[in-house]
Amino acid sequence: MWPWELSLLRGEDPDPRIRPFSSKEFQELFGLLRGVFRLRRVDCPAKGGLVLGIETSCDDTGVALMDFDGTVVSSLLSSQIRDHAEFGGVVPELASRKHQEVILPLLKRVITDGGVENTREEISLVAVTSGPGLMGSLLVGVMTAKGLAQAWGCPLTGVNHIEGHIFANRIAHPELEPPFLSLVVSGGHTEIIHVRGWGNYLLVGRTRDDAAGECYDKVARILGLPYPGGPEVDRLASGGDPFSWPLPVPMKGSPDVEFSFSGLKTAVLWTVEKIKKNGGEVPVADICASFQRAAVSSLLGKVCLASELTGVGKVCLSGGVSANSALRDAFRSRFGDSVFIPPVRLCTDNASMIASAGLDRFLREGPSGLDLAPDPSASLFSRPETKK
Ligand code: KG4
Ligand code: ZN
Repeated sequence: MWPWELSLLRGEDPDPRIRPFSSKEFQELFGLLRGVFRLRRVDCPAKGGLVLGIETSCDDTGVALMDFDGTVVSSLLSSQIRDHAEFGGVVPELASRKHQEVILPLLKRVITDGGVENTREEISLVAVTSGPGLMGSLLVGVMTAKGLAQAWGCPLTGVNHIEGHIFANRIAHPELEPPFLSLVVSGGHTEIIHVRGWGNYLLVGRTRDDAAGECYDKVARILGLPYPGGPEVDRLASGGDPFSWPLPVPMKGSPDVEFSFSGLKTAVLWTVEKIKKNGGEVPVADICASFQRAAVSSLLGKVCLASELTGVGKVCLSGGVSANSALRDAFRSRFGDSVFIPPVRLCTDNASMIASAGLDRFLREGPSGLDLAPDPSASLFSRPETKK
């Protein structure tokens, strides 16, 4: 806090010799601080510093510590699934409050588990998801991260959640190097990204409407299955006949690298309604298996097309839906050793991937300012160097 702010707080007239900075002066001072941060960054690896990652973009509170070599030292996740299950989906206001409840206890635990004795000395960078996601949820993570960075006197870096998912594969496969195609497939995203270098991304194709995970969750709801539907549909599909119901493979004949899942969801709805209208019992496992065949076939087909069009043969999967057993099997049998898939705990939201992406971004570009703000619709592709 600056002296004039103190006097303002006390209700006194600010000392006339002390005045607020002009924005230009502030920028200069801020530039200076950034410089200090950069110096510290150079020192960090030698000091064996740690990166603290924080993820609160949706309904999972994640905190993780990673060393500068990319090894996860400790990582914890508090899931809100049970809190939202009775509403059949994420309630943003509730999500935000739950993040507030658990983030500090989780942080303490991660620090203890990581054997950190002096946070100021040992933690050299705070990385936090700044978007995309739910505003109230992002706000909790970003504000916590800012407070910690200030208290510990270390730099702060804002991370794009999608970039985090891309980096999940770097944790699982440290030998992985661009270029590769990354299918990020989650509850909010279905995108094929050409990773030309770390930090250099080109969007190849995305969904026109629903994300694949959103479609899994909605189909589960139609079938009366609990939230989140993806894992449940996956589990039941293994006991069903994938060819029992002729559900359409979305965008199959289209020459474009584009997904669309809302039609498939509607096809499941009509199928179920027709069966019910005719007084039949809904064959849940068969419908799950038929839906999953169509969804996986669409995802695989478009990644194959993207691979042909770009000439890039290496493929990575990430995001919650990449935990799906049929999707993992289909990509492994099509791409063999050229496909990289993280273990399930790194597919769904977690803070290790944010620490990894944050560290890379920090080493490339330096810190974010302390004016970092949550951006619910942040895009990974807005920076000029990623445009063609
Ligand atoms: O990446 P994530 O944890 O959060 C977002 O960023 O959205 O992904 C959550 C999504 C949910 O829609 C969930 O139903 C889906 O991933 N999901 C699955 C599976 N496990 C999670 N979908 C299909 N099969 C699974 N095994
Ligand atoms: Zn995610």
